[in-house]
Amino acid sequence: MISADLVSLASKAILARLSERSLPVALVGLEEQYKKVLDLMRRTIEMGESNSCLLLGPRGTGKTMIVRQALLELEKQFQAPIINSGTETDTDGRKDFMVIHLNGMVQTDDRMALKEIMRQLSREGESEMGNTNTTFSDSLPSLLSFLKEGTRAQYPIIFILDEFDLFAQHTKQSLLYNLFDVAQSAEWPIAVIGLTCRLDALELLEKRVKSRFSHRHYYTYPPGTYHDYAEICQNALLLSSSDLEAEDVMAVDGMEEQKRTYVMEFNRRVKALFEDGGFSKVLQRIFDLMKDVRGFYRLCFGPVAELCQSNPYLQPSQFYESGLQQRVDNKTELLKGISLLELSLLIAIKHLVERETITFNFEMVYDEYKEFMDLAVVRGSSTHTLGGGSTEGVSLRLYKKAVALKAFEHLVEAELLRPTDAVGKGPKEYRMMRVMLDSSQISDVVLKHRDCPTVVARWASQR
Ligand SMILES: Nc1ncnc2c1ncn2[C@@H]1O[C@H](COP(=O)(O)OP(=O)(O)OP(=O)(O)O)[C@@H](O)[C@H]1O
Ligand SMILES: [Mg+2]
Repeated sequence: MISADLVSLASKAILARLSERSLPVALVGLEEQYKKVLDLMRRTIEMGESNSCLLLGPRGTGKTMIVRQALLELEKQFQAPIINSGTETDTDGRKDFMVIHLNGMVQTDDRMALKEIMRQLSREGESEMGNTNTTFSDSLPSLLSFLKEGTRAQYPIIFILDEFDLFAQHTKQSLLYNLFDVAQSAEWPIAVIGLTCRLDALELLEKRVKSRFSHRHYYTYPPGTYHDYAEICQNALLLSSSDLEAEDVMAVDGMEEQKRTYVMEFNRRVKALFEDGGFSKVLQRIFDLMKDVRGFYRLCFGPVAELCQSNPYLQPSQFYESGLQQRVDNKTELLKGISLLELSLLIAIKHLVERETITFNFEMVYDEYKEFMDLAVVRGSSTHTLGGGSTEGVSLRLYKKAVALKAFEHLVEAELLRPTDAVGKGPKEYRMMRVMLDSSQISDVVLKHRDCPTVVARWASQR
């Protein structure tokens, strides 16, 4: 019998990775980007160079993890800032660098951002930073000169701006302007690192801001192959012996030995899980549909939380149907039974929304749908039946506009689409709509749909 404490430690360690509280054991396929970001920050700390860069990539592709991993590495090499402590603990009070974390979702205007900068600086020992009532452009230089006046040499500061694109919405983009200006003029060693999922983020910058940005940018991508995807997923579930460190538990006699055996057996079974046919099928489908690691993580929460003394290992069967049931959400449950045409329109909408076309009308959706169908017909075997007909059990055909409009109206009646204006004027084909589902919910509907042909599923997962 395995100690209940060990199982609970294992479950906690894996949940921490799934909920992104702890770092992944490896960054798969992101070595280049990681090196670049690490190098840039290191040069700021070591040589006082100022710099700026952007990390761009779709959601869940490792941007935040790259930065966290790099900071961890730097904290090992240099005198790290002492977080959560107002007092200096090292003898000469020396710190090699400071890190300021900002997030565009939290600091929604420059004033809040400035307050947060002050708060983080004072938390690290730099207290009494002037007052925050002055304007931003007044405050930042005084903030920096405050640091300069100190007895110590200039502290390199690393600014991490998560959800960078949202900072571009702040009035006059003062924060960005000032940060980039300091970085460019090199009067103070700072590194400004922006993370964003908007690939067009640079275009959002005002000219004067853009011209001060270094234009260094690196992209992150979703895992390109199923193999890489499975590796990232498997890494999240594998245990290492450092995952099960707890002094009180380990103090018990024979626990070290038991831990070794448990970790070995646990990992053997995780590897077997990934070889299991049923499990691989589920994983492959998630990969085809979204390529998002978080899609798999969501599936794992249940089985991992259920680990207990009587059930200390992950079982393939926990991931089969249960996997999909876990993500039950009323809207997607309702949608299980929609027609293929309605599903196709939803996928067309998903593509529009992913291209930042947040409001749309029927005509636009139909165009998108028709474009896919035309391509599919060209590739398909016959003019009207696709996806192998008999093997799929469903035939796919291009519906006329009038029929599609009816299906579209169904979606409106079900309140999955909602008009942007209260009173409908003009022909209904042109009425602007918004969709009430997000992309991943639409992916879920595709995943759950009983007879969705492969071509359509593939279309849904294209970006
Ligand atoms: N290539 C990869 N190697 C290892 N882990 C990865 C990789 N891609 C994604 N992940 C995992 O996916 C999760 C999400 O990554 P992360 O938080 O860095 O995404 P992000 O790009 O910052 O997304 P968002 O734009 O939503 O903030 C993390 O747990 C991370 O470990
Ligand atoms: Mg992130």
